[in-house]
Amino acid sequence: STAELGDRIRAAKATLGDRAVVLGHFYQRDEVLEHADFVGDSFQLAQATKSRPDAEAIIFCGVHFMAETADLLSTPDQAVILPNLAAGCSMADMADIDSVTDCWEQLEDLYGTEQGADGRVPVIPVTYMNSSAALKAFCGEHGGIVCTSSNAETVLEWAFERGERVLFFPDQHLGRNTAKAMGVPLERMPMWNPRKALGGNTSAELESAQVVLWHGFCSVHKRFTVDQITVARQEHPGVRVIVHPECPMSVVDAADSYGSTDFIKKAIEAAPAGTTFAIGTEINLVKRLAAQHPEHTIFCLDPVVCPCSTMYRIHSGYLAWVLEALVGTAERAPEILNRIQVPQDVAGNARIALERMLAAKP
Ligand code: 13P
Ligand code: SF4
Repeated sequence: STAELGDRIRAAKATLGDRAVVLGHFYQRDEVLEHADFVGDSFQLAQATKSRPDAEAIIFCGVHFMAETADLLSTPDQAVILPNLAAGCSMADMADIDSVTDCWEQLEDLYGTEQGADGRVPVIPVTYMNSSAALKAFCGEHGGIVCTSSNAETVLEWAFERGERVLFFPDQHLGRNTAKAMGVPLERMPMWNPRKALGGNTSAELESAQVVLWHGFCSVHKRFTVDQITVARQEHPGVRVIVHPECPMSVVDAADSYGSTDFIKKAIEAAPAGTTFAIGTEINLVKRLAAQHPEHTIFCLDPVVCPCSTMYRIHSGYLAWVLEALVGTAERAPEILNRIQVPQDVAGNARIALERMLAAKP
């Protein structure tokens, strides 16, 4: 049962002490997060990894790209563990290194590779944190950078200081919403379409582009609609609508504000008691915020429960399993299970792109 698993997790953690640290993303189940030493959004979890160089094992309750990032930002002696290896991210899977390289080569043919008179290169690659380490390495190698939903604007500013244009992957919505907020007109952010047979991109639209968007999206956040916001406003006059920037542009435009998971949490914490919120993000976070803030009315914009099915794959059984393996028994030597290790040939460049993000000033 969940209670028994909770006892086993607490016992294993007590034995391990400071040797192990459990990190948890806001979208994790409550019965997992109650054991986390640190809970945060993807940016905060990257920072938290760096703050615990003493821990031998980092148990990452999140998804694969987050665990890869933790491996890149931890010391070589630390082991990063993903309790269930099947916890991926469908958006991260929508951009692969071969397709992005192919796109990049075509853009180089079009824009050239020479710096302009102002010292800027023709194009800078920017990857959302929700991507494989190979894509982060691609950015590191080609003068680019990583962003998260909490620093996308800062990172795009960094990129525009160094490049005339940006190639942004994998999330079209975060790219579009952020660039639009910075004043980039929609007609200057075409979506990359390599399928010439289906129309492809015209050279005119690529030539005038400021941001070339990849076609990826989050299957959880694309469910939110403007109609849901209209209904929420009709049924709850005065409601504050806050959504995640992975939502489509029309939804972000219709909301009162948007931001990362931590932004949503802080907006709720800062509101006067009695505020009603309609939230456009994953349901585990929305339900937890509602339970933690009985002084407000908080509900999810989508009436049909929308969990992130891959985040949900981490449950307490897996957490107990990897922690108990680290402890070992009289019969069984301690063991590191489900270690995530970014291959050496991509780790160096991936780290460069991540460190550029951590150093970019907000
Ligand atoms: P945050 O960066 O807001 O934590 O979001 C991560 C994510 O995967 C959202 O879908
Ligand atoms: Fe990926 Fe969407 Fe899940 Fe975030 S909510 S981990 S973007 S599938």
